[in-house]
Amino acid sequence: MADWLTVKLLFVGDVVGGLGRRTLTGLLPALREEHEPDFVVANGENAAGGVGITEKTARELLAAGVDAITLGNHAYRHKEVFAYLDSDAPIVRPANYPRSAPGRGHLVVERDGLRLAVVNLSGTLFVEATRSPFPEADAILADLRGKADHLLVDFHAEATSEKVAMGWHLDGRVTACVGTHTHVPTADARVLPGGTAYVSDVGMTGPRGGVIGVKRELALQRFLTMVPVQFETSGEDPWLNAVLIEAGDDGRATSIEQLLRPASS
Ligand SMILES: [Fe+2]
Ligand SMILES: [Fe+2]
Repeated sequence: MADWLTVKLLFVGDVVGGLGRRTLTGLLPALREEHEPDFVVANGENAAGGVGITEKTARELLAAGVDAITLGNHAYRHKEVFAYLDSDAPIVRPANYPRSAPGRGHLVVERDGLRLAVVNLSGTLFVEATRSPFPEADAILADLRGKADHLLVDFHAEATSEKVAMGWHLDGRVTACVGTHTHVPTADARVLPGGTAYVSDVGMTGPRGGVIGVKRELALQRFLTMVPVQFETSGEDPWLNAVLIEAGDDGRATSIEQLLRPASS
């Protein structure tokens, strides 16, 4: 049972396409009843057709009960979303992208007097960013001082080394540092000694029957022939991959639990 001293954050891994959106929408009411999260944050970088996000798909996630949306390397896939990223909507793209690029990298959402800062950062190994995420995180935390009770960082990165390093860099300074982008959940969720909930990758909310979201026969064709293939999103075996983080009113995490659920359960 939740009590007023406990804050619960539900973070949902990369929502992939319409199937991922329907999986989230279908499972969220039961997850709410079971876990009573104070805030729900979802990575939406694959929400529109499997790559990128549009205003319509972002609004669909928010209408389903998501409080804030984070993004990643596919943030700018659809031009039509740029104005929405520049609006007051609760959506963030990696903070260490060019300052002049559409959108912002952190925001604060409020509910019942609780303030949650949501920060999005990109790694630099095998994904592109303009500035190192490490000093970028320091600058954002300095900016957020006194403006939020809890802080959640979505570190969108490929390499586990960079992600683990970020976890240690932020330990004791944020409530949670969760990894996204690989679409594959890692088995290392834990609360670091300083009180930061950490997992290298939350995973994806979408078709487990594909190859990180793509129809497996198309992905395999590409690997087998090396001939470019037009990818399509898989519709097979949808799962929700998320983490539930509990924290005290001091902003420190006390637990992190992986929630890996098939859409049909
Ligand atoms: Fe993704
Ligand atoms: Fe990504």
